[in-house]
Amino acid sequence: MEKKDSSSSFTIGNSAQERSWSYVPDCYVIPSSNRPSLTPETANVPVIDFSRLRQDATQRANAIKEIGNACHQVGFFQIVNHGICQSILDGALSVASDFFKLPTEEKVKFMSNDVKKPVRYGTSLKDGDDKFQFWRVFLKHYAHPLSDWIHLWPKNPPHYRENMGKYCKEVRKLALEVMGAINESLGLGPGYLSNQMEDGMQVMAVNCYPPCPNPELALGLPPHSDYTCLSIVLQNSAGLEVIDKREGKWKLIPEVHGALQVHIGDHLEVLSNGLYKSVVHRAILNSERTRISIASLHSMGMDEKMGTAEELVDDQHPKNYKESSFRDFLDFLCKNDIAEGKNFIDKLKIKA
Ligand code: OGA
Ligand code: NI
Repeated sequence: MEKKDSSSSFTIGNSAQERSWSYVPDCYVIPSSNRPSLTPETANVPVIDFSRLRQDATQRANAIKEIGNACHQVGFFQIVNHGICQSILDGALSVASDFFKLPTEEKVKFMSNDVKKPVRYGTSLKDGDDKFQFWRVFLKHYAHPLSDWIHLWPKNPPHYRENMGKYCKEVRKLALEVMGAINESLGLGPGYLSNQMEDGMQVMAVNCYPPCPNPELALGLPPHSDYTCLSIVLQNSAGLEVIDKREGKWKLIPEVHGALQVHIGDHLEVLSNGLYKSVVHRAILNSERTRISIASLHSMGMDEKMGTAEELVDDQHPKNYKESSFRDFLDFLCKNDIAEGKNFIDKLKIKA
């Protein structure tokens, strides 16, 4: 019989998720008040038909209004008819899944605890440092401009660079379009910050959530909001939850084939002076299958400071947020534990 291990830190290649343990070690067990339901209610989130943004002016204006409402009410929406073909989506999910099936020796080459590394593999948010562990393994890598980073990505599985690279390019184009639509919905015009976004960062968070023997005891990712302007998530099955603000309840994002999930991040909350709030989300687990998700995280350049749009500030609406860059977020991450509820956005709020 396996011996129960309650040590609070697991070395790489030795974590519970990687070893398919038949029980949940203590350091993965989250306090009972925060445990997920195994039968969550489904979230009623907006699904935007993105092709309407590329049609006549009336269709476009209506779609932009819907996007604005979604950002304002939920900070999250799904998009369909986004124009990225299914084979590119499937190709990215398949190499992601194959990467996590590689032998440990192959993956530890990328292992790092340094959140500033452009390519890194890990089993916790900050391996070895975190009090709580989460039932996830991940590979994170920079993706724009592709030619600066792709040679640092895994060579194995053999199609990783090709398939992931294709998806990164497509999803980035889409993200810039979504950002344009969101800025238009704020009355800032579609070209607002477009140069900064064009030269901005794209970080891919490729997540793997192995089956968990007691999915009601642990989480894949703790509640958090993304630091980004926006994040676009592709997944192979359901598992993402958002808080329903009216009911104060966690709800599961339904699986819509071919759909992409758009999250409003902290930097967009800052830009919009709080008109749009970054969405708090978490990842839950299941006992049957491995869930793969690929989050494409979009922000301005490493040292480019995001501040509130002056157009959205006046006597009645004073500026509510301090400026910050992606690097400021990374510095924050080094010093704080998001698993203990420390949020970047709270640091940015100007207290009245
Ligand atoms: C993330 C994230 C959600 C998911 O990587 O920031 O929130 O569904 N992922 O895996
Ligand atoms: Ni996230």
